Amino acid sequence: MAAMLDGPLRALFLWLSHRRWVARLALRTPGLRRVALRFVAGTTLAEAAEAVRALNASGASATLDVLGESVSDRATADAAAAAYVATIERIAADGLDANVSVKLTQMGLDLGVETCLQVIGPVVAAGRRHGIFVRIDMESSRDTDRTLEVVRRLRADGCDVGPVIQAYLHRSRTDVAELAAARVRVRVCKGAYAEPESIAWQRREEIDRSFVELVTTLLDADAYPGVATHDPRMIADVLAHVRQHAIGPDRFEFQMLYGIRRDLQRRLIEEGYRLRIYVPYGTEWYPYFMRRLAERPANVLFVMRTMFGERR
Ligand code: FDA
Repeated sequence: MAAMLDGPLRALFLWLSHRRWVARLALRTPGLRRVALRFVAGTTLAEAAEAVRALNASGASATLDVLGESVSDRATADAAAAAYVATIERIAADGLDANVSVKLTQMGLDLGVETCLQVIGPVVAAGRRHGIFVRIDMESSRDTDRTLEVVRRLRADGCDVGPVIQAYLHRSRTDVAELAAARVRVRVCKGAYAEPESIAWQRREEIDRSFVELVTTLLDADAYPGVATHDPRMIADVLAHVRQHAIGPDRFEFQMLYGIRRDLQRRLIEEGYRLRIYVPYGTEWYPYFMRRLAERPANVLFVMRTMFGERR
């Protein structure tokens, strides 16, 4: 991710991801929508369930994300929560091997922690009813403290939830030490937002070192970490630790994004490792799609080629 982290393209796409007028334009552009669907399982729950069924058949589990974020009114947040409840009910009814991933800014976090806890209440209740884990995605550093507070309070109420920790943040070592001590189920990722040097590593080597350190801390605490990366070097380093410490393949899982590095996904399954695919669906694909473009400039060429009809 290093070159990508430093690149002006990355900064541009992350900046664009927050521009509502660009989002409105993008959502109305059929060519772009077609390209975005490479990273998104569809716009409806039925399409998402179909994608999960196919993943399950290939040996992977899934985590479903109802696309949406940065909600600023209660009614929209409640509607998003209802969509998550429907998703959990569908997972249970269809017997899918899946859980859900939720962004708290979609659950009204910008309206305050108390409102967010009320909004997410029905989601975690549905999770509890069906024994389905609820992953809390991590967003920009503006929200890290509040996100961890919501996770702490939900867990204190007995809800089966766990956060995402971003390796690029300096604070993550301390956060993970606490979470590992309580054996909280954490997903570790590199981090997908634009963060300043004062609080976040910027260089690839630093982020990678932090990633492996966080994952191994959680592995050693037997906290069932989600190792969320498509980076073969991160995977090799984690597997080296696992072998050295005789940690069984049932004590962690790899996680990857829908539509990214399918070759690597297949390889890990063939080698007998657990793999969970993050499956986003819904109409609010714009910011998610822009973060995927920011991660990999080659995706921009892919977009151009697809939109302008050029054949490979
Ligand atoms: P890196 O960016 O170094 O990429 C390694 C290789 O993977 C690339 O060379 C390329 O082959 C492939 N690759 C990576 N990104 C690609 C893309 N967009 N398109 C095509 N190929 C790509 N972030 C966050 O801040 N909060 C969160 O809650 C989550 N949640 C999350 C869940 C899951 C399951 C995953 C896999 C990732 C996240 N992320 C996230 C995103 C994460 O922080 C990070 O931005 C991406 O995973 C890219 O980093 P990699 O570790 O894959 O390495």
